[in-house]
Amino acid sequence: MEKSDDKKPMLPPEQSPSFSRRHFLELIGMGAIGVTTLGGMVLSAEYLSPNVVKEPPMRFKIGPPEYYPPGSVTLNKEQKVFIVRAKEGYFYALSAVCTHLGCIANWKAEEGIVACPCHGSKFDREGNVIAGPAPRPLPRFAMSLDDQGQLVVDKSIVVQEEVTLKV
Ligand code: FES
Repeated sequence: MEKSDDKKPMLPPEQSPSFSRRHFLELIGMGAIGVTTLGGMVLSAEYLSPNVVKEPPMRFKIGPPEYYPPGSVTLNKEQKVFIVRAKEGYFYALSAVCTHLGCIANWKAEEGIVACPCHGSKFDREGNVIAGPAPRPLPRFAMSLDDQGQLVVDKSIVVQEEVTLKV
């Protein structure tokens, strides 16, 4: 009895019946369609997703009262707000955004004023205009002390000039 060998001889890929030129071109075509479809989906997703600018939260912690010595004015650049601690120890938070055209004002410790670098407006340490062209005082925001003894500023609440936080 003769023994049959099930193994077929190996052929080079181009002569293999399972790898024809047609098969190769079909694979290239399907790949191109797949890449085009995927690219279109990515572009569509980018177009449909909202174009949102992330703003910092309106209510935020600024640390314990001990961070701010009496008589200090501290600019929180990220939140664009001055944390003012009076010599008597109470606090208030002033917007650092100039009421003229919105530049960020700076605290000038040597003069004891807030000055805008853009068009020269000046404010006193309570935020009142002492030199234009700013038309209004700097808004004052609500402050509180949380359960952990951290100062909290809430820029969504504008308070009157006489409102302060006593700690
Ligand atoms: S933006 Fe401040 S003076 Fe114009």
